Amino acid sequence: MWLSAVLLSSSFTGPHGAAASSRVQRSAARAVATEPFTTTKSNACFNEAKTLMPGGVSSPVRAFKSVGGDPVVFDRVKGAYAWDVDNNKYIDYVGSWGPAIIGHADDEVLAALKKVIDKGTSFGAPSALENVLAKMVIDAVPSVEMVRFTNSGTEACMGVLRLMRAYTKREKLIKFEGCYHGHADSFLVQAGSGVATLGLPDSPGVPQGATKSTLCAKYNDLKSVEAIFDANPGEIAGVILEPVVGNSGFIAPDPAFLAGLRELTTKHGALLCFDEVMTGFRISYGCAQKYYGITPDLTTMGKVIGGGLPVGAYGGRKDIMEMVAPAGPMYQAGTLSGNPLAMTAGIKTLERLQKPGTYEKLTALSERLIAGILAAGRAEGHDMCGGNVSGMFGIFFCKGPVKNFEDATKSDTAKFARWHRAMLERGVYLAPSQYEAGFMSTAHTEEDIDKTIAAAREVFKII
Ligand SMILES: Cc1ncc(COP(=O)(O)O)c(C=O)c1O
Repeated sequence: MWLSAVLLSSSFTGPHGAAASSRVQRSAARAVATEPFTTTKSNACFNEAKTLMPGGVSSPVRAFKSVGGDPVVFDRVKGAYAWDVDNNKYIDYVGSWGPAIIGHADDEVLAALKKVIDKGTSFGAPSALENVLAKMVIDAVPSVEMVRFTNSGTEACMGVLRLMRAYTKREKLIKFEGCYHGHADSFLVQAGSGVATLGLPDSPGVPQGATKSTLCAKYNDLKSVEAIFDANPGEIAGVILEPVVGNSGFIAPDPAFLAGLRELTTKHGALLCFDEVMTGFRISYGCAQKYYGITPDLTTMGKVIGGGLPVGAYGGRKDIMEMVAPAGPMYQAGTLSGNPLAMTAGIKTLERLQKPGTYEKLTALSERLIAGILAAGRAEGHDMCGGNVSGMFGIFFCKGPVKNFEDATKSDTAKFARWHRAMLERGVYLAPSQYEAGFMSTAHTEEDIDKTIAAAREVFKII
């Protein structure tokens, strides 16, 4: 979830604001059979939450600021579905922001967790389960010869940045506009085109010093990367990117872009890091790097490899990873890192993903969904574009093509807000921001997709 999805969000607080969201919606055909749509309990719970936690949430995008109206408060999740505290049922395409790739609360994952929990929740000492998950990751991901587990994607990205700097003895980092790498100071650089190389911080509290070495390039634009390398000879430690972007909405890479980055980094003695926190084990079992056939030096992961529990990881070439403490001098640590519950959920989830046909299913369902939504929207005269890679997908309310963050900002975010609320009212839970991707799971069915498209047809007539 990207900070700027909140900061850049439209100020839309349209007809479906907090007051409207509690009304009974009897007419709309809900995609899932359930009670009439009321959000009385959600509203009460969220109103209390706002007095207890900043914005009522533990992570900003959940608050629905980008789309207006209050969020619904979840009670439980199972498979492809979520239920809120008013017992409204949703077909869920957020999947806890990516981890739920085999569906929520999968029976096999839960059974494995129940078995392991009796042995304790955290050891703070080596456990054999870490070896099992490490071996699975090393076997699957082309760039990874050694791995360090963390508790979140943010921690993994913080660690990998320190490692890139330690290994190369250089400080400067190239990232891309619209790519999110967690909330560590150095990555919080918004950098529109006018300040592309100034590294201005994105959030109050981030010191200028923390971001002055962060240089921003344009996604899918090799020339913008080349220009930064040329202007900073011998100073760039590494390039980090989302190999498929999910934090500016869904944006696929031009394969030549990824290949070009590999060449440029090698030529300039810099490291290439794929941030696969979102794409890891989602785009393919070997992550986006295997799908596109480009091997970076370092990789960050999270989400799917934790199977719904808090996990992150970074890994890469052995000679680089051996710089990490205690093998080497680069310090990074974590009290709960590698805990047996998180390792178990990750192991079980990866085992399930190994089953033949997994990624074909994710692809087929996502293609069917996107094709259906785009056809329905265009039939009603909406400018739209969208796509998917495997089980990661998205749409924009503009003609497209969308190749980078600047293109993404051309989308009609006020219309997106109306679309989001109307789909919610019809039992479809989509990411509450234009600048987020959608996630398919193997628990979704063709029937879910068809119901979603039917709801979309209705919605496109009224937004
Ligand atoms: C590509 C990417 N990197 C890093 C992160 C940060 O991960 P976490 O939220 O687990 O800290 C995210 C979160 O969505 C992400 O999408």
